[in-house]
Amino acid sequence: MQHILSVRELTKIYQGVNRELTVLDHVSFDIARGEVVSIVGPSGSGKTTLLGLCAGLDAPSSGQVVLTGRDISQLSEDDKAQVRNENVGFIFQNFQLLPTLTALENVMIPLELQGKAKGAAAIAKDLLDRVGLGDRHDHYPMQLSGGEQQRVSLARAFSNSPKVLFADEPTGNLDEDTGHVVEQLLFDLNKEQGTTLIIVTHNPDLAAKTDRVIRLKGGKVVSDVLNEKVAR
Ligand SMILES: Nc1ncnc2c1ncn2[C@@H]1O[C@H](COP(=O)(O)OP(=O)(O)O)[C@@H](O)[C@H]1O
Ligand SMILES: [Mg+2]
Repeated sequence: MQHILSVRELTKIYQGVNRELTVLDHVSFDIARGEVVSIVGPSGSGKTTLLGLCAGLDAPSSGQVVLTGRDISQLSEDDKAQVRNENVGFIFQNFQLLPTLTALENVMIPLELQGKAKGAAAIAKDLLDRVGLGDRHDHYPMQLSGGEQQRVSLARAFSNSPKVLFADEPTGNLDEDTGHVVEQLLFDLNKEQGTTLIIVTHNPDLAAKTDRVIRLKGGKVVSDVLNEKVAR
């Protein structure tokens, strides 16, 4: 079976002032197309670093990431950007919306990067409607609450119909109700488009609704288990 993501002996070492910090230590796993996976573990265990490496946003110290059949450690920055634009959606822990662009313009970015500027506004409007922000198209990030910004970042991550969606604590800053809305939007995307979801979360209820839970500790995978009878 061809996996949508294969991670092999992935290691990330940061060079400190006096010593090296090994943040990821020979991490390996495979993720199947359409799988819904959560990555859990204490803060500082390397979850965000792992997500960034898997999405090609950052380069490993050693090891390999094969994403949609391409070894991204071997690609130039331009080719990596292309693989990302065509395949990957990313929801950042701190949203990372561009402050000088409206909600609508933020959601249009991935489409414009794909050369689909024509029609981008209509698609972006639909997506904002879907996340319940139909009346906030023209608002700038600073005019939106944390939960609203998170939903804009979700709409942006969906806009290029990614094959793989990486979400870094997508419900972490949200109240329970908004968290459930965001959760359901992610699961719907998986159901409707077969999108592979890789979700970093501290929320055990959310992790319990995923097919599989990979647990990190001190930069190593300490467990990798399938959940039985997942209802979502
Ligand atoms: N750019 C960086 N330079 C040095 N250390 C970093 C950098 N980014 C993250 N770290 C360190 O790597 C460790 C793992 O961080 P992170 O991946 O953000 O963990 P998590 O998301 O699980 O909380 C932490 O100790 C953090 O301080
Ligand atoms: Mg993190």
